[in-house]
Amino acid sequence: MIDDLWYKNGVIYCLSVATYMDANGDGIGDFKGLSRRLDYLHGLGITAIWLMPFQPSPNRDGGYDISDYYNVDPRYGTLGDFVEFTHGCKQRGIRVIIDLVVNHTSDQHPWFQQARADKESPYRDWYVWSDRKPAHADEGMVFPGVQKSTWTRDRVAKAYYFHRFYDFQPDLNTANPFVQEEILKIMGFWIQLGVCGFRMDAVPFVIATKGPQVRKPVEQFDMLRTFREFLQWRKGDAIILAEANVRPKDDLQYFGDDGDRMHMMFNFHVNQHLFYALASGDTGPLAKALVETKPRPATAQWGLFLRNHDELDLGRLTKAQQAQVFAAFGPDKTMQLYNRGIRRRLAPMLGGDRRRLELAYSLMCTLPGTPVLRYGDEIAMGDDLRLKERECARTPMQWSTEPHGGFTKSDKPCVPVIEQGPYGYPHVNVAQQRRDPNSFLNWIERILRMRKEVPEIGWGDFEVIETGDPAVLGLRYDWRNNSVLLLHNLDEQPRELTFSVGLAGDSGDTLIDVLGDQHSQAGKRHRHTVMLEGYGYRWYRVGGLDYLLKRSEVDGGNGTPV
Ligand code: GLC
Ligand code: CA
Repeated sequence: MIDDLWYKNGVIYCLSVATYMDANGDGIGDFKGLSRRLDYLHGLGITAIWLMPFQPSPNRDGGYDISDYYNVDPRYGTLGDFVEFTHGCKQRGIRVIIDLVVNHTSDQHPWFQQARADKESPYRDWYVWSDRKPAHADEGMVFPGVQKSTWTRDRVAKAYYFHRFYDFQPDLNTANPFVQEEILKIMGFWIQLGVCGFRMDAVPFVIATKGPQVRKPVEQFDMLRTFREFLQWRKGDAIILAEANVRPKDDLQYFGDDGDRMHMMFNFHVNQHLFYALASGDTGPLAKALVETKPRPATAQWGLFLRNHDELDLGRLTKAQQAQVFAAFGPDKTMQLYNRGIRRRLAPMLGGDRRRLELAYSLMCTLPGTPVLRYGDEIAMGDDLRLKERECARTPMQWSTEPHGGFTKSDKPCVPVIEQGPYGYPHVNVAQQRRDPNSFLNWIERILRMRKEVPEIGWGDFEVIETGDPAVLGLRYDWRNNSVLLLHNLDEQPRELTFSVGLAGDSGDTLIDVLGDQHSQAGKRHRHTVMLEGYGYRWYRVGGLDYLLKRSEVDGGNGTPV
């Protein structure tokens, strides 16, 4: 049963084929190269790969401008290579999810080309048109400062078309039943080739009403059930992971009250408050965000991430909180983007400080949800701020000290590999970190292993524990008669805490440190006193070994051994 819902206790690893590994030496990553790295990924302990768009595309938005949904861009290989890749994943027990980008197509897509060329074409109504420029054409841009409007005139069509994103990404008219059918067909196609689900791009916009008269778009939530139902008919264990940066009050609309819509959503709300906590050392707003996003159906799951391929969007924070995060992590204008976010990778944001990096990933692994790593996180890769917009955090994977970090044998990599400075490949690369038992890579591998051995986090209910110190976040998870307790000190100073686990009687008296040997036995009134180093973290299993063994006889053996 619990293994069927694999996404509740997995580790997802996001990568882009283009910048991962180039096998044929043309400077562009490809499926053959990626396939050669599957044993590396398997060893890291990830359970699913999320592939960013790899379909044919003019590539003006990192591939999020697709011109053919049923193919592999020839730069990355063939459909045959793709199937070899999914097969290789299957052999290693790794699942594959891929981006499903159906809010818009590329303007080069044949559907759009036909739609603009001929008013009578059946594809005309696949897009969203207006004869005149709508009054609110300069509102609702997703990339403010870079994108000028949401309606652009097409001289061939002699009309304006709607684009929520860049002007080369015309929105599909998702209210059109033929478009809806096509979306299902795209899902069915990739499912047949071995994928196990989709990271659905821009979900609130996909399901929004669109048109020249629409001032305030309304989400058509029923559509989400249709997608889900179809997917489950085709493949029982396939999932949709929704990109929906929405308010907590809308979460259940996306998950569905009965868990009949999206299986997973990224927790953007927690993400922003997590960065505030890392910047300020104050965990209060993070704890509040956790509680606000607590309600969800039992089968649903949050995707927990630190940084992704986009900017760190801080739009949810108050102005004062935003200012604190900018000051701590992105003080320079060049580090900021779209008047609302930071475009750097995590390691440089944290000054490469190993203690803070461990703290951040330990948090990502222990907040309620399933961790989603980004390629390069495991070796603490940096960014290249000379590259424009979000490109700075999308440089090729750094494998070794060979030229171009071992990413390619070509002298012209499609994106320059970071070479200079403390994050250059001579210092930061997989090969060196594998040889060093104390490297960040080996730490990540150990923490992911432990995360999977603590299914309480993925499955259980959590409670925020009163630690008496705003710098220290305490969380307890309970599941099937087992409990775990996680402590994180967001301050650079060591802290001494006195707290109660919050379980009845003496149930919480013994705390077993699962990452080290700093166990704790409660003193008077079942209270523990614990010392946490600056930026320290501790993972405890609640109850001693005897206690667990005794209990597992009772509950049928679900006690995970310490
Ligand atoms: C999503 C993606 C982003 C892309 C946009 C348009 O927000 O995360 O990278 O630019 O959709 O498809
Ligand atoms: Ca290649």
